[in-house]
Amino acid sequence: MPNISFEPSQKIWSISSGKLNYVLAIGDDLSVINLHCGGNVGLAGFQRYEGRFPFEPSLQLLREEYSSFGGLRFAEPCLKVELPDGVRDCVLKYTGHEIVDSRELIVVLKDIGYDLFADLHYRPYPEFSVVARWAEIRNAGSRPVTLEEALSGALTLPRGRPWRMTYLSGRWAGETRVVQEELWAGKKVLESRRGTTSHQYNPVAFFDRGGADEEEGEVWGCLLGWSGNWKCVAEYVEHDQLRVEMGVNDFDFRWHLAPGESFKTPKMILAYSDDGFGGLSRSLHRFERQEILPRNHAAEPRPVIFNSWETLYFNVNEENLKSLAERAAEIGVEIFVVDDGWFRGRNDDHAGLGDWEPDPKKFPRGLGPVIEHVKKLGMRFGIWVEPENVNPNSDLYRRHPDWVYNFPGRPRSEMRNQLVLNLCRSDVREYVLGWLDRLLTENDIGFVKWDMNRNFSEPGWPEAPGERQREIWVRHVQAVYEILDELRRRHPDVIFEGCSGGGGRVDLGAMERFDQFWTSDNTDALDRLFIQEGYTYAYCAKTMGAWVTGVPNFLTNRSLSLEFRFHSAMMGALGISINLLELSRREVEEARTLIEYYKKIRYIVQEGDLYRLVSPRTGCFAAFQFVTPDRGESSVFVFSLRGGFGKRHPNIRLRGLEPDLLYVVEDEGRSLPGSYLMNFGVDPGVIGDFKSRIIHLTAKR
Ligand code: GLA
Repeated sequence: MPNISFEPSQKIWSISSGKLNYVLAIGDDLSVINLHCGGNVGLAGFQRYEGRFPFEPSLQLLREEYSSFGGLRFAEPCLKVELPDGVRDCVLKYTGHEIVDSRELIVVLKDIGYDLFADLHYRPYPEFSVVARWAEIRNAGSRPVTLEEALSGALTLPRGRPWRMTYLSGRWAGETRVVQEELWAGKKVLESRRGTTSHQYNPVAFFDRGGADEEEGEVWGCLLGWSGNWKCVAEYVEHDQLRVEMGVNDFDFRWHLAPGESFKTPKMILAYSDDGFGGLSRSLHRFERQEILPRNHAAEPRPVIFNSWETLYFNVNEENLKSLAERAAEIGVEIFVVDDGWFRGRNDDHAGLGDWEPDPKKFPRGLGPVIEHVKKLGMRFGIWVEPENVNPNSDLYRRHPDWVYNFPGRPRSEMRNQLVLNLCRSDVREYVLGWLDRLLTENDIGFVKWDMNRNFSEPGWPEAPGERQREIWVRHVQAVYEILDELRRRHPDVIFEGCSGGGGRVDLGAMERFDQFWTSDNTDALDRLFIQEGYTYAYCAKTMGAWVTGVPNFLTNRSLSLEFRFHSAMMGALGISINLLELSRREVEEARTLIEYYKKIRYIVQEGDLYRLVSPRTGCFAAFQFVTPDRGESSVFVFSLRGGFGKRHPNIRLRGLEPDLLYVVEDEGRSLPGSYLMNFGVDPGVIGDFKSRIIHLTAKR
């Protein structure tokens, strides 16, 4: 059975992608409308509802696959354009379609008057119950067109209300926390206008009818692969119809589409599960590991990292890095990363960004001796960079004050004492690619942490013609992608970590270029349980950088045990940023043992299925379970957050095991059937404040 079929008599396409069935049709008026998005219906009948009263639009208009601003359309459009002669009315009709190798459907729409086309692309990924969709707007006319809004597409949900919307919200040091609210009427908008994905909202939204929970019920999801300004609009229109549109934010956006040019939107990922939020997350995680992550490192385990930031801050030099490297190697670190502070004039965040040579006072012999030392100790060397920004107090800025976004004669607002380089300019792009390429060519570097520590302001590009001015929001992101793609091509061995003051640029577009992310600057192991829980709603643990840092925590002043800090961080891609030279012998030994243990179970965490058994949001306990795809091994992370009155936490019922297999419970030496572990459960075995444990299970085959 092909994944995409077309039934000519009814003019219906059916895309079947695992559990997700997506059905669209050509209406009598040649509009292309959505018939169904959800569980399998096969080729659904064409349900019509013509408006009977004035002011009441037909369902056909309300369920359009790619609505435009034009005719009798009043809801959020996907496309808003200015056509030649000042015409701002655009009405798209079906003109043709193509099914490419049974893998992709392209439906071609065209404006009723002008040669403006919208190609709608749909690509099913049946293994993951996912459909990726995007649009390409083509100007085949002889005069330019201005795009004022060009979203990626819409998710048209089954009619009814209320719908519950679940999304990830937060701020710096408090990213990706789960928020749920019922939508009854009106418009709910999540967006970023900051130039990057943002800490405040992440471009993902989940929808259910209120009945879904972690493991049961229908959940729809949409995610956007874009690392700049974006918008997600969930809007009720008539007849209890909720539509969700997603794409590049139209705020301050314009795109000049010259004759012959086209604009390709980022991908919008539609996902569906009837196994609750957990089921949806697991499909997404598998999809990301197999389809999104850069291929060259996708299958490799993420290494254990040491990062100098929370240990030395800006105070890095050849001597202290060498001493730390020795300790790092001793406890089992695989990549030793020097964070901020290594380049010329960088003693705090007031100066140096832009002058990307080793600071001669800190590294009189360059980076070579440290790199050699690190390599001799059996590790690879990694380095922090922030290529998109510049401190006004730098030689680069003194030489090229025109290389930043600015409006002439207006203030240049600084954030963290820095300005954003105008990557829309080809000379700036070449410069950035040039120095990064040199850095990686001249030094044996295996890991790059690419940071971005401010939001955009005064987004002027004085050299560009007026009609291109507002393209910067998109062009900047395209330039970042282009530079990263080129660096990856030239230096395929290097692992790239994405960071933007923590998790300010985590999204599926970035994940096509970054092997992992720095999840949050908040490294408090308790706060992290909340941030990490939300992160895993959308993104896989393999990409979730998590460090063990010193106590008291710099942000929360909380002092948690080394074991608890490790257990919290071991649920992602483990890193260490602690002053290893200040640890006692006993602590060094403890860290070494825990890292050794992590290496033993990391493929379960990084490649396994995640079951969020008990959310930290529910109170004084949390539990997360990872299971290998073959169900042969499992690691259960349990956290007692508060204890009192000697009360024991209830048994936790595990998931994802083979009911008939016997599992050896490590530590306890017992063997128990999967059915017992899932239906009766296990005693978490931890009580008290901030106590944790990992229960490891291996199936006897
Ligand atoms: C950001 C990152 C940190 C660290 C600092 C360095 O805040 O999120 O991990 O790299 O920059 O300045």
